[in-house]
Amino acid sequence: MRTITVDLADRSYPILISNELLSEPQLRSFLAEKLSGKNLMVVADSNVAPLYLNQVCEFFQGCSAKKVVSAVFTAGEVNKTLGTVASLYQEFLDARLDRTSVICALGGGVTGDMVGFAAASYMRGVPFIQMPTSLMAFVDSSIGGKTGVDLPVGKNLVGAFHQPLAVVSDTSFLKTLPEREFRCGLAEVVKYAMIFDSSLLTWLEDVSASIMNRELELLTKMVETCSYWKARTVSEDEREKGGRALLNYGHTFGHAIEVLGEYSSLNHGEAVAIGMSMAADLSVELGMIEPEVRDRQERILERFGLPVRSGLPEEKTKEVLQKMFADKKVEGQQLRLVLLDALGHSLVVRGVDLGLIENAIRGRMGDGCP
Ligand SMILES: NC(=O)c1ccc[n+]([C@@H]2O[C@H](COP(=O)([O-])OP(=O)(O)OC[C@H]3O[C@@H](n4cnc5c(N)ncnc54)[C@H](O)[C@@H]3O)[C@@H](O)[C@H]2O)c1
Ligand SMILES: [Zn+2]
Repeated sequence: MRTITVDLADRSYPILISNELLSEPQLRSFLAEKLSGKNLMVVADSNVAPLYLNQVCEFFQGCSAKKVVSAVFTAGEVNKTLGTVASLYQEFLDARLDRTSVICALGGGVTGDMVGFAAASYMRGVPFIQMPTSLMAFVDSSIGGKTGVDLPVGKNLVGAFHQPLAVVSDTSFLKTLPEREFRCGLAEVVKYAMIFDSSLLTWLEDVSASIMNRELELLTKMVETCSYWKARTVSEDEREKGGRALLNYGHTFGHAIEVLGEYSSLNHGEAVAIGMSMAADLSVELGMIEPEVRDRQERILERFGLPVRSGLPEEKTKEVLQKMFADKKVEGQQLRLVLLDALGHSLVVRGVDLGLIENAIRGRMGDGCP
């Protein structure tokens, strides 16, 4: 078992990682200390529940919890809403959860974000545990305490910072993740390589075939490296006043594309892959990186089966730009964009010429077919 700490003074917590974590005695003793005599509710979505909910509830039963109950909601980003949160509150009330209880979010980013937000707000905040099951959740969404739900006009517009008690990362869950979801998580992995860690990119290039075959040892190492970068970023800048903004690489473009597709045609990771392609083009255009850096990003994204073009018609270019201004991270009327200034290094740039941004978007519209 590897432990990486998110260092936030009295709200510090560990990310515990192994490919057979639930059978590690060390994990049991760590959790027994946190859960002894407490009621616990495990919440999962309708895809993850039939696969793992019983196993996880039994596991927690063995960690000295007083009573372990569970709740299930219908899977999907479209259900990451205040309506689903309201139904979770009802489940919490029915199970008589109070502020001494603990909630566990077992699932992908939708589950972690929404259950985390329900935990942040129910009775003004109850402790929760993140137990990721999707690659997106392992490497990104389960770490850092950002919780929330979507509104019809945009993603993650309602939320709270609420750090978990622990992130329990058993990478064996990745065996059942659908192929498309797996590839989407890889978009975030490529993101860490491009903005922070050139040696991660070189390693990914070397082992990409084994990663695609889901060799568990390699997936575990990959999750460890990404967890390290996420934990370090959050530890230095919990509230996104500085360095945490770098994690938005590809996301300002990506969110706009995701919203234009009304959350359906592209999922988060695919939109981020396209967004990173636009951001890298813009970095080249501004003379900040050599085209070779952009090309290496493009090759690894393609090897991971990720799109590098939006598939939207070119006429939608201006709409994408407008949606970028609707993003909650826009300060005044200035877009803050994360761009690359070297392989494995990034910075936030303000006030980039709108014409150049528009060109970067236009260059990645369509599906690339003549
Ligand atoms: N809080 C943050 O910092 C943060 C960061 C990145 C992304 N996010 C959010 O995360 C969400 C995307 O996360 P996601 O891609 O995990 O979506 P998701 O939770 O919908 O999971 C993707 C799909 O995979 C299924 N699934 C998950 N684990 C499985 C497993 N082990 N076996 C079989 N099926 C499994 C789910 O049921 C779902 O159908 C978005 O809402 C995004 O906004 C949040
Ligand atoms: Zn993301």
